[in-house]
Amino acid sequence: MNPQILKQIPLFSELGDRDLEKIIQVASRKRYHKDNTILIEEEVGSTMFVILSGRVKISRISDDGREVILSILSDGDFFGEMSLLDGHTRSANVTSIEESELLVIRREEFLQMLKDFPQIAINLLKELAQRIRKSDEHIKSLSLQDATGRVATTLLRIAEDSGVFRKGQVEILELPLQQDLANMAGNSRETISRVIKSLSDDGYLRKQSGKIIILDYEKFRLKFSK
Ligand code: CMP
Repeated sequence: MNPQILKQIPLFSELGDRDLEKIIQVASRKRYHKDNTILIEEEVGSTMFVILSGRVKISRISDDGREVILSILSDGDFFGEMSLLDGHTRSANVTSIEESELLVIRREEFLQMLKDFPQIAINLLKELAQRIRKSDEHIKSLSLQDATGRVATTLLRIAEDSGVFRKGQVEILELPLQQDLANMAGNSRETISRVIKSLSDDGYLRKQSGKIIILDYEKFRLKFSK
């Protein structure tokens, strides 16, 4: 593998070529088809993963059997680090939602890497801090907002993670399925369709063959990011 591929990954971005080579030597690559289970909640973990290409969803199943999507991660992101760090079982399920190629690193090598390259540890902590911020926002939106607010903040999360910003608009190109949106926002599918229609009627959004455009991102954010 070319070290330049690893250079694009925020976790490794400060490392020089020689150090990247060391990481390549201890990692392996694995491909998953769309909708493959990668990790299962409660299993014992022995590896962590970096997404070289593709997208995965992080989810848990609620007591009444509904799927709750905690996050969607894409290329450059990592997952599977939590159980390696705290020694507990996997905290969530991870499923590929697209064909994905992952870098796989075993526990011993990952922990050694954190000792050898403090910059990796700092980048990891930065990302974990951002994930806590996002989770805090998510909890706030689930507990304080009505259905419209929850769908709008979910769209804002997706826009910030993977939207294409252009002239004040944001295009969300690879929209998750309606059911995935519902599981992210804590709503039913029917509510998602109804809210998206009413946000479109009110001039906030335009829905267009598999993509959603937030027509004025600043206005949308000010209105719904409370
Ligand atoms: P681990 O617990 O080993 O296995 C499941 C992984 O899902 C976990 O490590 C994290 O990498 C990831 N994960 C769990 N919760 C979240 C979250 N709220 N946001 C992003 N990723 C998460």
